[in-house]
Amino acid sequence: MVAESWEELLGEPGQDFRRFMLEYKFGMEEIVTKLEILRDEFAHLHDYNPIENVSSRLKSPASLAEKMRRKGCDDGSLDSIRRTVTDVAGVRVTCSFLSDVRRVSDLLAEHRDLTVLEVRDYITTPKANGYRSLHALLEVPVFLSGGPVPVVVEVQFRTIAMDFWASLEHKIFYKYRQDVPRELLDGLAEAAETSYALDATMERLHHEVRGHEAGGHEAGR
Ligand code: GTP
Ligand code: MG
Repeated sequence: MVAESWEELLGEPGQDFRRFMLEYKFGMEEIVTKLEILRDEFAHLHDYNPIENVSSRLKSPASLAEKMRRKGCDDGSLDSIRRTVTDVAGVRVTCSFLSDVRRVSDLLAEHRDLTVLEVRDYITTPKANGYRSLHALLEVPVFLSGGPVPVVVEVQFRTIAMDFWASLEHKIFYKYRQDVPRELLDGLAEAAETSYALDATMERLHHEVRGHEAGGHEAGR
């Protein structure tokens, strides 16, 4: 039997479920703090900010249940959710420039308490619809009263242009469900290419300006 609702999937969310969600919340907060520290360091000491925005969200019980259904996993144990749904905790980092996306993701991956479990580079290899972003699954230890608990957090790194595209695509997909008209799909694919070309041009201009600045003084790196 496939569970139709969250209650069916897990029974009444109780203490165990609260603990389960809290662990993800703490893991997410650890990652957000690391990114905010990096951002503050850049802003105060380098006079340059590679991070435009950091946002985070916990998956709602309803969309957790939906994803478990979609993945054909109706065993409602917390362990099976942990194994199946890797984006219970999600963090999104937007940067102005392509090089900053790489730089910030590399800096985060270098943290010795983090383990990079998986990287999906949809920037080098975009999805068929045009979607671009760099996805990383990071494992972060959360230190609780009973000892450290490893928590998996999905981090998406993208440029402002990629984010702009993804939010419109998401809206369109949501509005039409599975049935997006062909012209819209084509328009989105074209917009993805235009926006990637813009990213490449902005990157080039950015380097020219910084190269020029570096002539006289430290380029803020
Ligand atoms: P999910 O089961 O949806 O999590 O996909 P997945 O496990 O194959 O992971 P994937 O890396 O493809 O996507 C994870 C997340 O990236 C999604 O939840 C979205 O936030 C984002 N994403 C991936 N593909 C698209 C896309 O085509 N459009 C938009 N707007 N977002 C996407
Ligand atoms: Mg996923």
